[in-house]
Amino acid sequence: MAILVYTHPLPEDSYLAALRAVAPADVPVFSHAAGGYDPAQVQAILAWRFKAGAAAQFPHLRVLCSIGAGVDKLLAPDLPPQVTVTRASDPGQAQQIAQYVVACALRFTRELPLYAQQQAQARWQRHPVRPAEQCRVGVLGQGQVGQAIARAFVPLGYPVAGWSRRPRLGDQAVPGVQGFHGEDGLAALLARTDLLVCALPLTPATQGMLNRATLSLLPRGAFVINVGRGEQLVEADLRALLDEQQLAGAALDVFEREPPAPDNWVWQHPKVLATPHIAGEVSRMVVARQTVDALLRARAGQPQPLAVDRAAGY
Ligand SMILES: NC(=O)c1ccc[n+]([C@@H]2O[C@H](COP(=O)([O-])OP(=O)(O)OC[C@H]3O[C@@H](n4cnc5c(N)ncnc54)[C@H](OP(=O)(O)O)[C@@H]3O)[C@@H](O)[C@H]2O)c1
Repeated sequence: MAILVYTHPLPEDSYLAALRAVAPADVPVFSHAAGGYDPAQVQAILAWRFKAGAAAQFPHLRVLCSIGAGVDKLLAPDLPPQVTVTRASDPGQAQQIAQYVVACALRFTRELPLYAQQQAQARWQRHPVRPAEQCRVGVLGQGQVGQAIARAFVPLGYPVAGWSRRPRLGDQAVPGVQGFHGEDGLAALLARTDLLVCALPLTPATQGMLNRATLSLLPRGAFVINVGRGEQLVEADLRALLDEQQLAGAALDVFEREPPAPDNWVWQHPKVLATPHIAGEVSRMVVARQTVDALLRARAGQPQPLAVDRAAGY
């Protein structure tokens, strides 16, 4: 029984160190980059990306664990059905993403780029403050990340709504957050949202869903923040809506292609804040403990609390 660290194209070192610190003495931790291991010993793999064809090398694979909350790059079509795919779950990461989103939102609603320009010109000019209650926040996704974001906005006085696939009722919902779900719910949420946050997993249903048609349902002058996955937002449509003044701005932490090419418009556009997928970072120790736990549970035939629904894609 062994664990393989297979985080290509991301560096392995920090994951190897954390796993070697927490794995039981009789569970070796192999490095895919270093090679020289026996694939037949591998029962758990910690990965970011797992291409079609890769699973065939590991005849005794039981669990495929993501280094992040998303598993979109792990769900290879030929993954055997008996392999459980798990996500990382780190409340600290969700908290960091909420901080990032609130920072982007306040930068926009409190006009910080405008005041930075004025400062550069030594200009003392006040502008009206937009009251929080006039800036309605809509959060797509009400899972670990989306709920942390919604929870962060409520005490700041912003009216907050959340969107999920299924209705979130009772203790599944964040107090003070208006719930929407499904296709009809999306149109209704967009129509009442001045500040849209995407915190959705990438699945066939969410790929390309933020496009000209859906973003045009937002009120004129809305702002968009994407911390989900780049493939959910059609960047060319966003650009057109920004240039047409339909949207007032965007903060993007994730992109259709990462990193965007040096000549990609997102780097230069005056209405875009672009950051390199840094909204939240999963603790290596949390990932390592969850990977070991998933392997031990698989061997004991116990339920996997972090298993994703492979059919739903998250
Ligand atoms: N930028 C970053 O640094 C960063 C870091 C971590 C995560 N992320 C991204 O954030 C995503 C969400 O993470 P999470 O931990 O919150 O995931 P999660 O706990 O699995 O929650 C996913 C949420 O999205 C909703 N959803 C999924 N498909 C939907 C659909 N077709 N229509 C409507 N709602 C849908 C789910 O609805 P139900 O409640 O009905 O299931 C759920 O509320 C990750 O998959 C990843 O892509 C980004």
